[in-house]
Amino acid sequence: MPKITFNPGNKKVEVRQGETILRAASRARIFIPQRCGGKGSCTMCKIHVKADSQVSSPKEVEKRMIGDLNLTGGMRLACQARVQGEVCVELPENKLKAAVRAQLERQGQEDEW
Ligand code: FES
Repeated sequence: MPKITFNPGNKKVEVRQGETILRAASRARIFIPQRCGGKGSCTMCKIHVKADSQVSSPKEVEKRMIGDLNLTGGMRLACQARVQGEVCVELPENKLKAAVRAQLERQGQEDEW
């Protein structure tokens, strides 16, 4: 049975062959933001897959929404990428968490002065 490893957290989830990453994450209670219900139109479910991951090739809708350059860099839409074997996913950092981390880093730099 294929498996997805979600990072950060190194959470491993067994999935069905051909299942989308978004669906698998949802079953595993891993939150990936989305607004369009998995139709490939909101681009909120962007993730990164590691280069050696076995996922379906991007279809036209995904190419149109995120572009060839991003696809080459490993970005995929979780609602469009289907699992075909072992997959390693890097989830984007939560925006609020990123803002708090950036603020703490700035404060840390100011305290050093
Ligand atoms: S859920 Fe909207 S593009 Fe994937």
